[in-house]
Order: sequence, then C-alpha cells, then structure tokens
Amino acid sequence: MRLDRFLSNLPQLNRQQVRLLLIEKRIQVDGQIISDPHYEVRAFNRIELDGQTLQAGKAARYFMLHKPPGCVSATHDPEHPTVLDLLNEPDKEDLHIAGRLDFNTSGLMLITNDGHWSRHVTQPETKLPKVYYVETEQTISSAYAATFKQGIYFAYEDLTTLPAELHVLSAHSARLSIVEGRYHQVKRMFGYFNNKVLRLHRESIGALILDEGLAPGEYRALSPQEIALF
Ligand code: URA
Repeated sequence: MRLDRFLSNLPQLNRQQVRLLLIEKRIQVDGQIISDPHYEVRAFNRIELDGQTLQAGKAARYFMLHKPPGCVSATHDPEHPTVLDLLNEPDKEDLHIAGRLDFNTSGLMLITNDGHWSRHVTQPETKLPKVYYVETEQTISSAYAATFKQGIYFAYEDLTTLPAELHVLSAHSARLSIVEGRYHQVKRMFGYFNNKVLRLHRESIGALILDEGLAPGEYRALSPQEIALF
C-alpha cells in the first residue's frame, strides 16, 4: 500500500496532516526518512513518526514443506488435515500456500506470509517450471511428448496449455515440466489420453528442489538465497 494511504488510514491522522508530516521528513520506514507519498509499504516494514512506532513490521517467513498425500492444500478444512496442521509455527493464521497441490499429490509446497512473493511465484506470467513425477494406469506412448509440447485445449477455461516437456522414464512413469498451474492440470493432460494418474509428486518449482532429506510431512525455513530465487 502507498505510504500516504497507510498513514491516512490511522485514526489519529488525516490526509492534510499526512502530507505535512511527509514534507517535514518526520516519517521513517525501516530507519530511513521517506517523504515520497507513493512509497510502497508492506506489513514487513517498520514505520515510525518522530521515532514513535506506528507499525512494528512483521518478520517475513518462507518455508518448504514436503506435502504428504492425504492432506488438503488449505488453511482450514472441516474433514481432513491441512498442510498448515503440519507446521509448528506461531501465528499460523498469517501463513498461506504459494501454489496448491491436490489432496493425493505429494511433494514440494511453499508456505509464506508474504503475499507479494507468493503472487510472483504463482502468477502464470512468471512461467516458473514446475516438475512433477507421474505414475499412470496405462502405458505412456511416444505420442504424449509431442502433444504436451503442442499444448492441450482445455474447454472449461477456453485455453490451450503452454508447451510442456515430458521425459518418459518407463512404460508407466514420466517426469513432466509445466509452466502453469491450471486446475488439476497434470491429471487433465494425461486424461486427454484417457490415462489415469495414479501417483503425482512435485519435485521442484523453478530452481528450488525439494530436499531429499525432508520426509513427507516435514518442513524447513528457506534460506535468504532460496527466497531470492523468485
Ligand atoms: N496437477 C494436478 O493434476 N494435480 C496437482 O496436484 C498438481 C498439478
């Protein structure tokens, strides 16, 4: 949000006062005087007036979780365990998922309280490759790779999927890289060939690969270098 809007939203300040405070250089963001009313502030910034805290600034948090099958990619669910139930962290209500997985899909899941970061990770324009290991009911024929590369028409969304890369590993297993995250996208792509996906596991998002040592249900904080990958 713009700094002037943040300040005007406070009950003790009106827009005229905000304009003056900024001109008089009495507002600091993370220790720096800011006089630009358009300066973008977020929940993670510490904002002060004459050295008095107006917003303390929350710590930004980023985690990778190995989602097990059988849990819901949601913050609350009346019936099933959710991925957030697996986290032993304070203020869990501040956290959200960056890129859902289906109930029975396992693998890399990103969880954060930074909406700006998660939007960047998940928005289709970013075109981050997501790599999935797939096991199927029927044989994966040689026709699949060319079709996935060409794109498959999804009538419901009235769109054609972006080129995807398939590496067949065996008659019933493959590794698929897609740059979107449409609803049930991988299952629908194999569904085009009437081939049911029996196992689906996300191995990576962009350059971030799920740790081999992270067992299903386990998680860890991302390093600053990993956060900066996105
Ligand atoms: N595609 C699917 O069909 N399911 C997932 O969970 C992820 C991608």
